[in-house]
Amino acid sequence: MGGKESRDRTPSGHRQIPVCEPVIGEQELRYVTDCVKTNWISSKGRYVTEFEAQFAAYCGAKEGIATTSGTTALHLALATLKVGPGDEVILPAFTMMATAFAVMYCGARPVLVDADPETWNMDPSLLAEKITGKTRVILPVHIYGHPCDMDPIRELAGDHRAVVVEDAAEAHGAEYRGRRAGSIGQIGCFSFYANKIITTGEGGMVVTSDPALASRARALKDLAFDPMKRFLHTDVGFNYRMTNIQAAIGLAQLERIDTFVAARRATAARYTALLGDLPGLRLPVEKPWARNVYWMYGIVAGKDAPVSRDRLAPLLAARGVETRTFFVPVHQQPVCRDLGLFRGERYPVAEELGKNGLYLPSGSGLTGEEIKYTSRCLHGIWEQGR
Ligand SMILES: Cc1ncc(COP(=O)(O)O)c(C=O)c1O
Repeated sequence: MGGKESRDRTPSGHRQIPVCEPVIGEQELRYVTDCVKTNWISSKGRYVTEFEAQFAAYCGAKEGIATTSGTTALHLALATLKVGPGDEVILPAFTMMATAFAVMYCGARPVLVDADPETWNMDPSLLAEKITGKTRVILPVHIYGHPCDMDPIRELAGDHRAVVVEDAAEAHGAEYRGRRAGSIGQIGCFSFYANKIITTGEGGMVVTSDPALASRARALKDLAFDPMKRFLHTDVGFNYRMTNIQAAIGLAQLERIDTFVAARRATAARYTALLGDLPGLRLPVEKPWARNVYWMYGIVAGKDAPVSRDRLAPLLAARGVETRTFFVPVHQQPVCRDLGLFRGERYPVAEELGKNGLYLPSGSGLTGEEIKYTSRCLHGIWEQGR
């Protein structure tokens, strides 16, 4: 993920189009310089508190607890809820492994639900059959920026006294019935990795409007120091502290989040207009109740497509267009097989997405010309493949 200048050129003279690169500017530099000049480079400092407060407010939550990554935000959220051995956490089969790892760090059992074929999110109609007396948390993931259908998830959780923790790593600014992702469940978790809609390089955040959860999360992320007496610890804490330098970048990014979301949405609209007529190609949707932020513009080359996903990716790469294949579903991961998890379980929608999906260049700095070029490449490949 280099700078714009680092983009190489293809044999045809076209610039290599990266799948995603961050848009970093003068304000980020000013704030980082301020950290360095004032010596506030560790996790104390005004940028951390400001970034936490402003990002939480952006999400519609009362409090934000900045962390070192999206993965640690998820682990912190579950640890805050005291999820442990004997508990079950329900998550989608189609997600990035960090979601499942966070459950495994706690010693809890991950329980999977298949994806909805249209939104690629956890299918709420398949959720009820997975709930048991041990279900502590339901952990929906807003895949590629499209929010999950949260009402049925919240209803089922409420009926069974389970807590809803949203994995909103990919969904900064996405909305479900007018409510921002991360503030719909009791806890929301975000990632600020460099390809996310706003970035801190590496980083994450837990957001919540529950003051008791917020204060427990804040303590746990900072080694659970006793606030009254230093070097007394009342819990097993973690060092998941974000630095002031990271938060400085985050705050500058947050000032431009509306522009970034608008760019992502405009890119998606362009791709959809240019690719809608390619047979056998499925494109992302936006449900009437959703505001999709299209973190990544995913496409699925189904069985009617003239080329398979596995042929398509290298053909695009040869034309200078970088892509990424979709996630490999959780139950198909070697680590899960080795641990004896999900033996014999099948999740056909997640499996089909994992086999046939890839995402196209999607960064906020992508130009109209790059979108047109990428779409032309796809049309050319479709023509040749017929
Ligand atoms: C859905 C999802 N959850 C969690 C994470 C983990 O975030 P991080 O890479 O910041 O640890 C990611 C990261 O890309 C993600 O896509």
